Amino acid sequence: MTQNRPHFATRLGVIATTVGSAVGLGNIWRFPYEAGTHGGGAFLIIYIACIAVIGIPVICAEFVMGRASRRNIFGAFRTLAPRGGRWWQSVGVLGILGSVLILSFYSVVAGWTIEYLLQSLAGTLDAVASSERQIAFDRFTGGWRCVLWTVVILGLNCAIVLGGVRKGIERVSNLLMPLLFILLVTLAVNSLLLPGAASGLEFLFRPDFSTVDSSVILGALGQAFFSLSLGLGTMMIYASYFSPATPLLKSAATTAGLDTLVALIAGVIIFPAVFTFGAEPAAGPKLVFEVLPDIFYRMPGGAVWSTLFFLLLLLASLTSTISMSEISVAYLSEQWGMSRRKAVALNSGIVLVLGTLCALSFGPLSDFTVCGKTIFELFDYVASNIIMPLGGMLISVFVGWVLKRQTFDLELKPAPRMLLNALVFSLRFIAPGAIALIFIVYI
Ligand code: TRP
Repeated sequence: MTQNRPHFATRLGVIATTVGSAVGLGNIWRFPYEAGTHGGGAFLIIYIACIAVIGIPVICAEFVMGRASRRNIFGAFRTLAPRGGRWWQSVGVLGILGSVLILSFYSVVAGWTIEYLLQSLAGTLDAVASSERQIAFDRFTGGWRCVLWTVVILGLNCAIVLGGVRKGIERVSNLLMPLLFILLVTLAVNSLLLPGAASGLEFLFRPDFSTVDSSVILGALGQAFFSLSLGLGTMMIYASYFSPATPLLKSAATTAGLDTLVALIAGVIIFPAVFTFGAEPAAGPKLVFEVLPDIFYRMPGGAVWSTLFFLLLLLASLTSTISMSEISVAYLSEQWGMSRRKAVALNSGIVLVLGTLCALSFGPLSDFTVCGKTIFELFDYVASNIIMPLGGMLISVFVGWVLKRQTFDLELKPAPRMLLNALVFSLRFIAPGAIALIFIVYI
């Protein structure tokens, strides 16, 4: 079966799909609000350090495991670990659990983009005065339409995932990523011309380390894992579809570089606007959805910008949701022999229930909290700040200490020896050590 596993057709396909998974709501919605609640500049520096020192080595580790085993996360540990890696397969359990939790709350936010897209088309987004935007947002997220759009997202996601790897995933990503990028750059230039641009840039780029505490560091680490789709086996399963000729280190660096660039551009779009329109940088998950309409409707042809933006954001979210589903779908079909169709149905069924709970946590279930967090916040926190870094730590330990060095070198060929040594050093000591330290300091 492994023999006729499909490959991505082209090198652009490889980059577009991995970047397609990485770039999504994590960059455009989650990064600005995490940076906003955690003080801006200092958060950004710690975030970039996490990407460089932990993120890139862990992407390489996932790539190596995926392509060397040509399996899903369970199969990868089973094939590569000595004696079938019984214990190691539990990392796969983490992967599935994390991806289900993330898909559940992610679908809710992706659903918000449908609402904003439709409102842009209907012209009603502009009809709300800036001062009432918050009320309108709360009314929408507290109502039934928010649940409906979550269901629609999961339906769309099912349809694409059923289309299979090449036709479904690759084609959508190839076209979409470049288009989104051009739009973002245009919006960034527009934001730089706003009167609050200087204060916005100062907030984002001038670090003030006096406000840094362990929650800022854990937040930056979680954001790095979330944004790069790391620690759950996503990059692993995608690498299992790479051709033997794909250069792994270069692809890892390109993915991390582009993903970080998109997050930075999103910051440059949002923060000048936050300071121009008097929004609160620490507003949390609603930040971007409240500020964006003000940006668009100050531009000539606002409805067109806003429609285009939410359409592309919706599509970018879908290239991410499919990569989350792929973790469980590949597991169910490869390890349990389930048909792809059944696997997709089972995964979607579970996420449908959990996603509905997340959607309702802005309305009827808003008073139901665990440790002061609503269901939506809890899923995000547990998956991003605990499960993903933990998964990443175990994957680095595995590749650094257990996997044969020869396999590692062979997959990463033609990377220079010195770089290989540096990567292994990071996977053995730095990445797992830093993650463990951040956990310990936080507790
Ligand atoms: N990285 C994506 C984003 O930034 C989200 C994502 C896609 C993801 N696949 C994932 C997160 C797998 C965790 C695991 O929007």
